Amino acid sequence: MLFKLTAEQLMIQNMVREFSRKVIAATASERDKTKEFPAENFKQMAELGLMGMMIPEEYGGEAADAISYVLALSEIAYSCASTSVVMSVQNSIVCETFYKFGTEDQKQEFLVPLASGEIIGAFGLTEPDAGSDPVSQETTAIRDGDHYILNGTKRFITSGKNSKVALVTAKTDESKGHKGISCFVIPKGTPGLIVGHMEDKMGLRASDTTDLILENCKIPVANILGKEGDGFKIAMSGLDSGRIGIAAQSYGVAMAAFDAAVKYVKNRKQFGVAISKHQAIRFQIADMATKIEAAKQLIFSAASLKDRKKPYTREASIAKLFASEMVNEVTARAIQMHGGYGFTKDYEVERFYRDARVFTIYEGTSEIQRIVISNQILKDKRKP
Ligand code: CAA
Repeated sequence: MLFKLTAEQLMIQNMVREFSRKVIAATASERDKTKEFPAENFKQMAELGLMGMMIPEEYGGEAADAISYVLALSEIAYSCASTSVVMSVQNSIVCETFYKFGTEDQKQEFLVPLASGEIIGAFGLTEPDAGSDPVSQETTAIRDGDHYILNGTKRFITSGKNSKVALVTAKTDESKGHKGISCFVIPKGTPGLIVGHMEDKMGLRASDTTDLILENCKIPVANILGKEGDGFKIAMSGLDSGRIGIAAQSYGVAMAAFDAAVKYVKNRKQFGVAISKHQAIRFQIADMATKIEAAKQLIFSAASLKDRKKPYTREASIAKLFASEMVNEVTARAIQMHGGYGFTKDYEVERFYRDARVFTIYEGTSEIQRIVISNQILKDKRKP
């Protein structure tokens, strides 16, 4: 299915492209070195309505469709993958989860400032010993009158330090497996919520990834999201949307690496001609373009199902699997085409390659996407 973008979608894409390539790109390499969180950029992104794009206007969002969202997100990723992961978690997982499962009070208190970009949110599912298998998580939430007392450690939390509120899952009933997991809203500043170790990462260096430690963290019963036992499904549903975001992020970084490679091979001369004249390079350019285009169509396909309110779990995982593997291949090829220069920090492809490495890992590894896709197919008895 080929997608014809509407005038509004094209307008959003152009607006974000202009902003991203002027403002976000200007300091991306520097941020990669200093690890400085781009707080000022997020303020500007909030003004442009990029922090709660798919949330209705009454809750501070832009009421944009998912196609516009993936266009915008990939434009931000083109310039800075660190900035785009924060935007992705904020929009796809945090804001949408509040919108879908929050009470009116929770929406007013948390969703409105999140969607308007006044504050940044985090999502805490992963633990030191529970990554691909979140049902084995060990964080507990014990009911105590009008409160829950939470204890445990959440790991690899995007915006763990810079967020003002976190959605955190915990076990409310050990005996019930995934049905014994619940989701809680924990504002920063709550006693017992501690920002722990900050990871020193290979890529996405300007996005903070931390532990969130819960030590007898006491939160009111009103801060449960959904009902007791809904936490696993809430997380899975958030990840469905999140995975479209990571696919869009992969597409954006792949396009940046591709454009850099095309520019380089046209200028670099060896054996008396531009290396773009060599078939070995031309065929690689063709393969890269083909895979990037295929990823784009898969992303549009998943986003369009979401817009039409159809199930999209399978398509989100397909898009995430293909696009994240694709960007790892494309960034590696881009470095190869740059030769020795690609291995230096003088060329941006070096950063793109490092940033892309985690895309096949977070929000579900490629192996987990294959489990989701095959489960969906075999369960649905739908044709692939
Ligand atoms: N939406 C809603 N409900 C869903 C769902 C979905 N997409 N997927 C599953 N469920 C429901 C099922 O219907 C089932 O409910 P019932 O028992 O009522 O029928 C229940 O959840 C259990 O489903 P499964 O039996 O399929 O679950 P499972 O235990 O076999 O696990 C899994 C499935 C796919 C392996 C899942 O555990 C998974 O996705 N793991 C990866 C986790 C992950 O992506 N972690 C990344 C964390 S975030 C991050 O990376 C950091 C960041 O900030 C960027």
